[in-house]
Order: sequence, then structure tokens, then C-alpha cells
Amino acid sequence: MSTKGLRDFRPQLHFTPSAGWINDPNGLVYAEGKYHLFAQYYPEPFWGPMHWYHAVSTDLLHWEHLPVALAPDELGFIFSGSAVYDRENRSGFGQEGSPPLVAMYTSHKNQEGNRAQEQQSIAYSLDGVRFTKYPGNPVLPSARQDFRDPKLFPNPVRKGWSVVLAAGDHVEFYASQDLKRWEKTGEFGPQGNYSQGVWECPDLFPLTIDGREVWVLLLSMGGNEENHGARTQYFTGSFDGDTFTCDGRFTQPEFIDAGFDNYAGVTFSGAPERLLMGWACNWTYAHNTPTGEYCGQMTLPRVLSLVDTPLGGLRLGGAPVSDRAFGPAQPLDGTLPGELFKLTVTGSGAESVSLSNEKGQVLRFGVDGNNQVFVDRSQAGANGFDENFARDWYSRMAAPRFYQGDWKLELTFDHSVCELFADQGTRAFTQVVYPDQPYTRAAVENGSRMTVSVV
Ligand code: FRU
Repeated sequence: MSTKGLRDFRPQLHFTPSAGWINDPNGLVYAEGKYHLFAQYYPEPFWGPMHWYHAVSTDLLHWEHLPVALAPDELGFIFSGSAVYDRENRSGFGQEGSPPLVAMYTSHKNQEGNRAQEQQSIAYSLDGVRFTKYPGNPVLPSARQDFRDPKLFPNPVRKGWSVVLAAGDHVEFYASQDLKRWEKTGEFGPQGNYSQGVWECPDLFPLTIDGREVWVLLLSMGGNEENHGARTQYFTGSFDGDTFTCDGRFTQPEFIDAGFDNYAGVTFSGAPERLLMGWACNWTYAHNTPTGEYCGQMTLPRVLSLVDTPLGGLRLGGAPVSDRAFGPAQPLDGTLPGELFKLTVTGSGAESVSLSNEKGQVLRFGVDGNNQVFVDRSQAGANGFDENFARDWYSRMAAPRFYQGDWKLELTFDHSVCELFADQGTRAFTQVVYPDQPYTRAAVENGSRMTVSVV
């Protein structure tokens, strides 16, 4: 077991594995009152042959850890994928009174010369705990190297299901009635994309605004020199039952989060709200984060919405479900109540909020003179564990607001992960920080009003 942990950084509301490594959330599905979370997992605190970790929750904030759901087999490692609740038993895997959960994942097989073969497989569970792999796997055979991360979604036109898959520099759509036999129905990309990197972990879903349906395509862009590692892009448009058509409103990459610790996010299938969860880390430095026996955590589940903004038109907004767990807001006299709290700051014009500890480490965030929301973690705590983490690029982040004038900043701080939401979540920053000692003080430079709430 690794001894790299500096102190206990384990967050309370953000999901972590009991021990070992996690990356992408997988198989997010709501069934019979329970949210299922699976995750890319290796039992040691570093990446290795991938399994699916499994946990369930009724409130998305407290999780029961279950046995590993899927382990590597002769088709390869179990890479990212999704799950659906097959209530009508179209797959035929169900038994009387027990509709199956059906998971679709990428079987990833390493081959000679740094190459890999990626194909799609399925598995099902009748009790929501033990999974059986389908003997007819792979259901989408391929010899391709980058062909992964299937995200299932109900097809409103053809009925049954569709799946969107990342295929190098584009996504592909397939449709099926029984989750076993798939027919290709369309593609999107590479035209229309302005970001660098290999395409990973897509998702496609509708949101409504003023009675109008808009389809949102999420796409995680694999790390490379140009995009500085791993961010999640989004597009808006329509879906005709076969393929996604982008409305072309954006002329540059638009990311769901301006921080560097929200990657591979996808939404829960079958949930009453459109809930997004991502991996709250970044491939560039994930392996070196100083957390000890576990490595990696998830973002807070975020309820997504569309917001019509004055400066940016239609934007993806959102709020974390943890908002429901915090008690009433109290005025803040400058002393922070421990390592789990929600800070709300309201003002207009430039402001810099700082959280600090007795070692003089400071996490700053606010709105700058150019009407940009910013987070600066350059002095926030330990950063010598990884040369990239300490680099300016990953330390100071800013993104222009889609509003002018009054603002409200909401920061959820949870031991070593913080999520900042501005302007109804149309700007969000998810960041990990590793202060050597807890932050005890909060201060504002320009007199904005601060309140705090605790769980
Ligand atoms: C994204 C990703 C996926 C892949 C998985 C492997 O973070 O690279 O594309 O399925 O991680 O762990």
C-alpha cells in the first residue's frame, strides 16, 4: 500500500473508493429507488487492468460500497461504459418480476506494439449486485484502437435504445431493440469540433427550456499538450432518432467546467433529473495526488439545466445536489466551520475571496476586473507532488461571465475538493487542493457579503 498520503484528505460528500484507484464514473443508473455508481477501478492506488467498482445510494451523497461488479477477462480490461434499467425486459435477460440492469462497456485488449483492440460488450444483473457477462460478447466487435465508452440512452423515435460511442475523432451512433443486436445509424464529427485530443466518454440527452427541447452532446477530450489534459466539452443541437445535428452556435470549445478536475462526466440513466457526475481529477497529475490508500474521487452529482444568458445565449448551467444537504446560511465572521461547508458570496464588480490556514496557504476565488470568474490555487497547499500540478496553467483559472453586474458565487468545500458555481452554474470550477492544514479563515477584499452553511 502506498504511503504517499500527506494527511487525511478524504472528502465526505464527494465519492471515493474505500481503497485503490478510480477514474471515470461508469454505468450511472437509477433503478428502484437506488442510484448505482460504477467506476473505472484498480485495487491499488494507481491505474492498472480496469475493473468496475460499484456503490449504491438513495441520496447521491452517502454511498454503500458493493463488491467489484466486473473484472478483466479474455476480451481484455473493462473500460468505461454505461447501464440502463431494462424495465420491459427487451433484452430477455430478466426473469419473472426481476427486470435486469444491463451494462455496456468497452472490452479493451492490449496488443503488440502499443496497439489496442476495443470492442463493446454487455453484462446484466437481476439483483443489482452480481453481474453476468453475456456469452455472445462482444456485441459490437471491432478491430479498432479508439472505439470506446458506450453511453446508452433511450431512443424516443425508434424506441428501444441508442448508444453513442467515441471513435477517435468523432462519435458514432448505433440503435438496438434488445441491447444485443446493433445497427449503425449515424456519426458526428470531426467537423464542428474545435478542441484537440482523442474523443472519450460521450453522452447525449435532451434538456428543455421554455418548453423547447434541446439535445446536449458531452464529449471529454483526452489530454494532450494543446488542451493541457482532459476537459469536457459540450455541443447543443437536435437528435432525429439516428444522429445528432449540432446547431453550430459555438465557434470555440465550450467546456462544462472551467476547472481542471472534472473529466469523463456523464449523466444518470432513468433518474428523475438530469444528473451529471465526473471524475474529479485530471490525467496529467492524477497518479501523484497525495491521498494515500485511495486515489481519485468523483465530482458532486450536478443537476443540469439550460440557462438563457444575456451575453452567451443558451448555456449549460447546474447546481450540485449537495445544496440539499446544507443547513441554513449564517453570516460569516471570518472563521470557517471545519473542512466541509458551503460559502455563498454576493456582490458586484471585482472581488477576491480567500480561504487561508495557519501555514499561510491561501485558496483564492472571485470575479476579476475583466468580469471573469477565477480560481487561484497556486498558493493553496501542497503542490510539489507533481510538476504539472504546480504549473501556472493548472493553478490559475479564469472564465468570462455570461452576465454583467451583480453576481453570486457558491463554493462547496469538501476537505480536498472544491466546486465553485457562478451565475446559476453557467460557470463552474471543480478543483482539488491539498492544504497542509485545514483552512480556518475566510476573507473578502472588497466588502462583499459572505454566508456559510454546514451539513
Ligand atoms: C477516460 C478514459 C476512457 C477509458 C478509461 C480507461 O478517462 O481514458 O476513454 O475507457 O478512461 O480507464
